[in-house]
Amino acid sequence: MDVTSVRDEAGSLPRFPMPRETPFHPPAAYARLRSTAPVTLVQLWDGRTAWLVTGYEEARAVLADPRVSSRRQHAGYPFATPARAAAERGERAFISQDPPDHGRLRKLVTKYFTVRRIETLRPVVQGIADDVIGRAAAAGPPIDLVREVALEVPARTICHLFGIPPEERFFFQSRDHARNALDSTPAEVEAATAEMLGYAAELVARKEHTPDDGIVSELVRDQLHTGAVERDQLVAIVRHLLAAGHDTTANMIALGVLELLRHPDQLDELKRRPDLWPNAVEELLRYVSVFQISPNRVATEDLEVGGVVIAAGEGIITPLAAANRDARAFPDPDTLDIHREARHHVAFAYGVHQCLGQPLARLELNVVYETLFRRLPGLALAVDTDRIVVRQYLLSSLGELPVTWQVTP
Ligand code: HEM
Repeated sequence: MDVTSVRDEAGSLPRFPMPRETPFHPPAAYARLRSTAPVTLVQLWDGRTAWLVTGYEEARAVLADPRVSSRRQHAGYPFATPARAAAERGERAFISQDPPDHGRLRKLVTKYFTVRRIETLRPVVQGIADDVIGRAAAAGPPIDLVREVALEVPARTICHLFGIPPEERFFFQSRDHARNALDSTPAEVEAATAEMLGYAAELVARKEHTPDDGIVSELVRDQLHTGAVERDQLVAIVRHLLAAGHDTTANMIALGVLELLRHPDQLDELKRRPDLWPNAVEELLRYVSVFQISPNRVATEDLEVGGVVIAAGEGIITPLAAANRDARAFPDPDTLDIHREARHHVAFAYGVHQCLGQPLARLELNVVYETLFRRLPGLALAVDTDRIVVRQYLLSSLGELPVTWQVTP
């Protein structure tokens, strides 16, 4: 592939991240590039270039390739913005490690997130969803679905799993938000990261003194006290788990509800046929692709993909929102279709770093959507769709989602 073909008239490379033309679809540039150059060079904010992967097969090939690294400390690792560099450069959790360290550290926590183990949590998640949605229903319309429901269920589920008093969720929610917000400065991101690490360290110490039957206590007993993991490594993992399980799922709940309200025929079918929810959840994960402009990698050896040679040391960006809209993998990709076979989507990425928490995310999404539209079948947007602001940064996100419903006397 001749990379000069994607340069504009002035000979400049496309800049990344690219703006969306509409909030509900990835940038049109992804489809244009994919048709001619599914792996192509783009320009980053810091003057460096990186390879942008817009094809589905090409993204899977990169993400499964042992010649690419996730280490944020690698000199060639590409960051999408200065704030992302500030947020991630010091990352020590296994998301930023390569094999064999990655596997050793991930294994410390895999048993808590297996499909079977997560399924035993169903009554807990259902209880949390019933409580949260019941309170919202009792408060009466209109409500902000983001604050009242979407943020609540994942945060309270994490609190349950980790033995955290529910009132502490506001602290880690706000710090996490500061780390992920589009308008945060690098200094604010660094401060929020330090506070989250401090919180995770305090949580580990608290569980040493007052153990319970939550995951953090078990990790302290089985891993820290046996010398299987160093304290600062465990703290980094706890910090990462607190964050990873929270903003992603919350935004997926809110954006999924918004898409369902924008597709009322499909929503009506789901209300009549709740057995369709698991398939609909996969399609919503694909269509929304909440983890939208990453993950990123850096080549540690030369590799060929999508007709180009990526040289050792060069950065790679695989926006999952691009791969999930590739017509070669998903015919008519810009149409939401709850009957589609979508389970091969890459909304949770692919390869060794594929999302550890996906069984939990799937459980929460299924339970929340089903419960919400069963308890409040007349749920509707309280404002016009064009008044709803979908923010595009590391994650697609909604600041608020005003919804309403008819109250029957
Ligand atoms: C990794 C997406 C929910 C924990 C990832 C990755 C993606 C992702 C794309 C791969 C990052 C990479 O390759 O560098 C999502 C989405 C979610 C979600 C879309 C919700 C809809 C969760 C939950 C948890 C979780 C509920 C657990 C509490 C993790 C962890 C990793 C990860 C620990 C790192 C895995 C590794 O590096 O081996 N997630 N996630 N995620 N996710 Fe999730």
